[in-house]
Amino acid sequence: MTITFVGHGYVGLVTACVFADFGNDVFVIGHTPSKIDRLKNGDPIIYEPGLKELLEKNLKAGRLHFTLDYKEAIAASKIVFIAVGTPPKENGEADLSIVFEVAEKIAKNLKGDFTVVSCKSTVPVGTNKKIEAILYQYKNPNAEVAIASCPEFLREGTAIYDTLNADRVVIGSSSQKAIDLLIELHKPINGKRIITDLASAELIKYTSNAMLATKISFANLISFYCEKTGADVETVLDAVGIDKRIGRIFMNPGVGYGGSCLPKDVMALINIGKNLGIDPGFLEAIEKVNLQTRKNFLAKILENTNEKNIAIWGLSFKPDTDDIRFASSLYLIEKLLGNGFKINVYDPAAMENVRKTFGDKINYSKDPYEAVKNVSSLAILTEWNEFKQIDLLKVKRLMKCPLIFDGRNIYPTDTVKALGFKYFSIGRQPVK
Ligand code: UGA
Repeated sequence: MTITFVGHGYVGLVTACVFADFGNDVFVIGHTPSKIDRLKNGDPIIYEPGLKELLEKNLKAGRLHFTLDYKEAIAASKIVFIAVGTPPKENGEADLSIVFEVAEKIAKNLKGDFTVVSCKSTVPVGTNKKIEAILYQYKNPNAEVAIASCPEFLREGTAIYDTLNADRVVIGSSSQKAIDLLIELHKPINGKRIITDLASAELIKYTSNAMLATKISFANLISFYCEKTGADVETVLDAVGIDKRIGRIFMNPGVGYGGSCLPKDVMALINIGKNLGIDPGFLEAIEKVNLQTRKNFLAKILENTNEKNIAIWGLSFKPDTDDIRFASSLYLIEKLLGNGFKINVYDPAAMENVRKTFGDKINYSKDPYEAVKNVSSLAILTEWNEFKQIDLLKVKRLMKCPLIFDGRNIYPTDTVKALGFKYFSIGRQPVK
């Protein structure tokens, strides 16, 4: 099948590469010439394990075509996916201007044959209806088109695996022809098929991300209780999570959820609720706890350090990505700088992105050991594998004071205690 993706971010590029790998002919439309050139040369622009190899393989096979031009791609495609960004506006509402702009361009290039326009971007309920209206407004009267909502559930860092092994493939449309085509395209992908209407498909996506954020904020809230009462959050959550109705997965307390999805989608769902006359207080509380988690971590550092120099390990919003959007590291660095701290940072992938924000206000280290040299404390913000079994004795020798603030609970308390560290983690009793 010939298909097109408009947008080459995490969702667009990964899904395009996966479908090309199945043997489809895939166009990817972008709007920045330099980025399209890089993609044509096998540079995925984003950091995602396995993506460069998949991109190079399918470019070589001639199944992936990157272009700035809608004409050829849209005319040739049976399915056109919209996979562009929906960033939050000041008020938290999703900014849909790019989605609508793209819909108009697609419409103007539709030819006579039946085409499905399928939206993968996360959009508020009712948006696909608006896209449909735009398609009908601008299309050639002879062009046959139907709209579908096909939300994406992949995670950064495991995006290719998640695309191939989806828990569910959601297809929302009122057109049977569109549903049939999308079912055919998704045949090689694992996962339960959920065939539904547009509004349900749109809401499934927001509900999933809001539920994930709920689990994280709930775990973080319980960690506050543990810190005040002497309880141990890991023991509490392990015991609670044994109950199959609750589950332990995705309930790891830390320095809050970040990334381009959970924070944005919770904000957007709050906004959708307000517009519908629904009190979104519950969702607002999830956001509030998320911010409180970061504030508490900062307070721990400020209260327990005498000297204002610190190393930070882990800058990306989670491991295996260079993405720093809404990462807790940005909040922490800004606040620590404001408090007069000298900061050394190390991250295996995200340093260049952080440099774009903080420039020479902080020091960038070539490895975790260099970062801790002569500093009085270390803060761990992302649970990259390489920190988990690092030589802690060497770390201790290099540091001026053996003091760790672990925002991801990556070390057993007993281990760091035995090594002689002072250690503050999340929801567990400090080692002083
Ligand atoms: C999230 C969803 O997990 C995907 O299903 C969804 O497709 C994607 O958003 C999207 O909407 O595109 P992602 O943002 O890549 O994926 O990252 P997650 O793995 O969900 O992690 C988000 C944040 O939560 C990270 O900052 C992570 O450190 C934090 N987290 C996660 C916790 O603090 N505790 C946990 O137990 C799990």
